[in-house]
This record gives sequence, structure tokens and C-alpha cells, in this order.
Amino acid sequence: GTAQIGVTGLAVMGRNLARNFARNGFTVALHNRTASKTRALADEFGDEGTFIAAESAEEFVAALERPRRLIIMVKAGDPTDAVIEEFAPLLEEGDVIIDGGNAHFADTRRREKDLRERGIHFVGVGISGGEEGALHGPSIMPGGSPESYASLGPLLERIAGKAKDGTPCSTHIGPDGAGHFVKMVHNGIEYADMQLIAEAYHLLRSVAGYSPAKIAETFRTWNTGRLDSYLIEITAEVLAHTDEATGKPFVDVVVDQAEQKGTGRWTVQIALDLGVPVSGIAEAVFARSLSGHAALREASASLPGPVAAPLSEAEAERFAGQVEQALYASKIVSYTQGFHQIQAGSEEYGWNVDLGAVASIWREGCIIRAAFLDRIREAYDTRADLPSLLSDKQFAEEIGAAQEDWRAVVAAAVHQGVPTPGFAASLSYYDALRAERLPAALTQGQRDFFGAHTYRRTDREGSFHTLWGGDRSEVTG
Ligand code: 6PG
Repeated sequence: GTAQIGVTGLAVMGRNLARNFARNGFTVALHNRTASKTRALADEFGDEGTFIAAESAEEFVAALERPRRLIIMVKAGDPTDAVIEEFAPLLEEGDVIIDGGNAHFADTRRREKDLRERGIHFVGVGISGGEEGALHGPSIMPGGSPESYASLGPLLERIAGKAKDGTPCSTHIGPDGAGHFVKMVHNGIEYADMQLIAEAYHLLRSVAGYSPAKIAETFRTWNTGRLDSYLIEITAEVLAHTDEATGKPFVDVVVDQAEQKGTGRWTVQIALDLGVPVSGIAEAVFARSLSGHAALREASASLPGPVAAPLSEAEAERFAGQVEQALYASKIVSYTQGFHQIQAGSEEYGWNVDLGAVASIWREGCIIRAAFLDRIREAYDTRADLPSLLSDKQFAEEIGAAQEDWRAVVAAAVHQGVPTPGFAASLSYYDALRAERLPAALTQGQRDFFGAHTYRRTDREGSFHTLWGGDRSEVTG
């Protein structure tokens, strides 16, 4: 075979990825369950590069140079297993199967182990950036063996987005499921970023009394500063858009129930298992879920709320500045929590993930791309064993400088009855981490009272129990 890479599954992500490889000079073998799609793609985009349209699985495999590299771009779950089983028997030792879907990392671990035992490399790759990213340069998060990256990495780095300093946004994340795990956390952070932006919008609308068009302007301004990011940029576009049919702001004609395909939910489920407090990300997932409970919302619509006094123009402007601070501070917290989860996953599974490299490949191509990520990369490059992003000197200084305004915004939201679960949870996380003493001591006392669960003391080693039902003397536990 002569194709350096093969793509099977030619829905929009697969198509665009195949075209991206071809445009970068690679010969690309194409395969799809419905063969007519394969031919159509090769015909339509044949002038972009060299495609080999394969009619059958056997033809597809035969078209690939060895070691074969074939990317599966089908739905996560059973369809992925079915396609793996279709191709694995046709492959030879050292060939590489790549899963570019949004697979659960536990599935990737299972598949990698199974195929490794059959002599085949299995690489679970997180790909971010949507359709446009796939075509023009996504952020790529490959797991799998280091040998597989040696064969695959140069191709991925060629088609990946490039950071401003030229660094490709692809790097070997770590063995087996590491790539899909990091993509999962990327999506958890994506949910949090989106929720925080939505809260900022809600506050500017309800408390400051701004129109969607004015909020679009505000976001455009923020996008020239430290919040410079893809998500802020597209938010301004969405808010500035007018619905053609009604002439109303587009955002006012869309049903206010957020959906999800599940990667944000996975992030929180796994965080609970790992014991990592990702409260901001969790609130983002719950906020989507709450919005979808139409009947519950309907049944609660007449519950009383505060009577809000409108702000003057000058007050509104001042408030908007405070919201920018609250948004930035909460964003630092989401990333702190997300990177903590990657660190914990890396320790649990022995992946040895380089957190600075993760920040580096999120700088371009992906949905959460932002100027901010360069700063995170710097923080981890300065100190690879940074216990938390909040312990980086610069981030600590910035969040410290924002905290007064952050509190004012959360207080205003509470006073005015505007829900800000993301801002509030992030602020609580910040306050809990900096607290000298937490009421967890009382929780321990309660546990010991009703269940003799024991506690540790501040002044002596060991575990202790108080005889609560007796003379309340203390015994060692
Ligand atoms: C990306 C995105 C993408 C994801 C959805 C999010 O990084 O390109 O994260 O992979 O599938 O766009 O989907 P939901 O909001 O439906 O969960």
C-alpha cells in the first residue's frame, strides 16, 4: 500500500480530518460503511490531495503502507467496538488503530489492552475543535504506547493547529487512555467556561440591564484583554445575532434548555471516583441538567424572589467591570480544578502526564483555546510539580486582586435573585482552600458521635474516639 494514513467513518469529522491529511501532502485511504460516500468524497475533494477510495475493508487495509495507521471516526461506544473487530483480524503485528472519537477513557484502556495482546497498537486520540478544527488544525491528544506515537506523531503534528510560537498542538499525552482522559477533562473545562460566560451574560442582562447587543460589545472588549479566547469571541457573535423571522435577538428565541452529549458528565463522575473537588465543573453540568427540567421549572415559577432596584448607567458600567473580574477569577478556579483532575488521573493510572504540555497543546485548535493557556503553560514550565495553579505566584496575585469584585458580584447576584452557581462555587472553593480552619473538624466529631468513625487530633499522632454514650472520655481508636 502507499497511503500513509487511512480514515474509516466519513461523517463530517472523519471527512474533514481526511481532507486535512490530504492537504498536508499525505496519501489518504478512505473507507466508509456506505461505499458511495467514499467515492463522493474522493471525487469532490480530489484536487486537495491524494485519496484512495476503498470499496471494502480488505481493500482499505491493502491500501495502507506498513506499519498501517488507520483512524476510526465513528460514534463512541458499540459502533467503535464493531469497527475495531472488523479491522483487527486484517492487520499485522505493529499496525496502529487510532480511535479519534470522544471515547470514554476506560473503554480506551480496555481496547488498548486487548489489542496489545494481539500485537496491535491502539491509540485513543482526543480531538478538539469541531468541524472547522478538524479541517484547519485541531488540538490533538493522543494516548497509547510511545512506539505508536513515534510512527503517528509526525503526521498528527503536521495536521494539528499551531500555537503562536509555532508549536504543534499535538503531543504524546501518556499510555493507554491518557489522551481520552485529557480530552474528557478538556470538555469538563469547556462546560465550565461556557457556564461562567453564561452567568456573566445573565448578570449583565438582569442586573446591569444591558441588551444582548450591548453585552456582545462588552464581550468584544473583554476579548481584547486577558479573557481573549475562542469562547468569548463566539459568544459575542451569538449575542449580536438577530433572528430573521422575528427581528428579536437570537438568544431570546432559543429554548433555554441546554443539552449535552455526556463528556462533561463523565468528567464529574470520574472526579468523584478520584476524590478531586471539581465543584465549578460540576455546577456547570448541573446547570445544564436543571435547565432541561421544564416541568420542575414550570411548577416553581411562582416562588417568590427579591424585588430588584435597577442600576444607574454609571453603576451598571462599574458592575460590568466587576463581572469581568469575577469571570476571570472563576475561570482560574475551573482550570485549577481541571488540571488537578488530570494530575490525579495521571497518578492513579501511572501516565506521567506533563501538565505544561497539555496547556501548550490547548493554546490553538481546541474549543477552550485562549491566551490564558500560554500563562498556564508558563506556570508549569517554571515549576513542573506545582501543587495547584493557585500556588503559581502570578495566578495567586491576579485572583487576589480580583477577589473583592468577585465577592461583590456574587453578593449582587444573591441580592437580585440571579443564579450564579459557577461563580459562587468557584468563590467557595477559593475561600475553602485559603481557610485556616474548616468545619470538617465538626464533621469528624459528628461521624465519631453517631458511628464511632474516629478522628485525628491536631496535637498528637494516632486515631481517637470519644465515648459519647458514656462518660465522654477519649480512647484510642
Ligand atoms: C470539542 C468539543 C466536542 C464535543 C462537543 C461538546 O472539543 O471539539 O468538546 O468534542 O463533542 O462539541 O458536546 P456537548 O455540549 O453536546 O456535550
